[in-house]
Amino acid sequence: MIYEHLLAPLDGFLATVEAFRASGGRGANVTLPFKLEACRYAHQLTERARQAGAVNTLTFDGERIFGDNTDGVGLCRDIVDNLKVPIAGAHILLIGAGGAARGVLGPLLSAGAHLVAIANRTTARADELAKHFSALGPVSVICPGEMPAQRFDILINATSASIAGELPPVPAACIHPGALAYDMMYGKGETPFMALAASAGARTADGLGMLVEQAAEAFFVWRGVRPATDAVVAQMRNA
Ligand code: ATR
Repeated sequence: MIYEHLLAPLDGFLATVEAFRASGGRGANVTLPFKLEACRYAHQLTERARQAGAVNTLTFDGERIFGDNTDGVGLCRDIVDNLKVPIAGAHILLIGAGGAARGVLGPLLSAGAHLVAIANRTTARADELAKHFSALGPVSVICPGEMPAQRFDILINATSASIAGELPPVPAACIHPGALAYDMMYGKGETPFMALAASAGARTADGLGMLVEQAAEAFFVWRGVRPATDAVVAQMRNA
């Protein structure tokens, strides 16, 4: 099996994937900014890809193209299996309401979260997301400046604020000692969100484990085997 990079120009996703398929490609992981295009490209979507409205795993079977999304499962597995923090019964603050947040909201609810509260810079987008997923479980919205009544066990930064080295809209007072503050960003060292959370006594994690877990799940989709991930995460941290 060969698994390597393909860099597609911004306006060339379709041409790149078609050429790859024509050369015998059997499947592909897709990352930003092509997950929506990959979703439109697939003939058939899994339920989790449909919920996410985005595809990060394509499988080619003859003429048929299948779209899946392993991001949410990857996040949940990193939190539960690697970081040993239960999602079942947890109060979760999900910060952000873009594609990344949308991709993980369904799996967090399916994993049995007691409540997922969404906070976003633009509240209307948080409202929209909450409405869209309300049938799957308890979802609420926190407006900027509002101090939530509940204590959060897990806070997840799903905004792209960390890319710009900025802090997402999270009231410092709702970060409690012992909570898990998870930044889906990786490779940036300690982000402003992680620094704020650490100063409040929370445990912090970046998205490297999620990156590995979503890839392991994609491998499972293609090959029916779920690879062990501990050694891969450790190796990438050392690198
Ligand atoms: P992605 O697919 O990475 O989620 P997106 O759909 O553009 O990208 O969403 C980006 C998210 O990060 C949004 O929640 C955005 O907030 P808005 O909906 O208010 O735009 C959030 N975001 C980006 N930059 C931010 C910043 N500097 N501070 C706070 N939130 C930010």
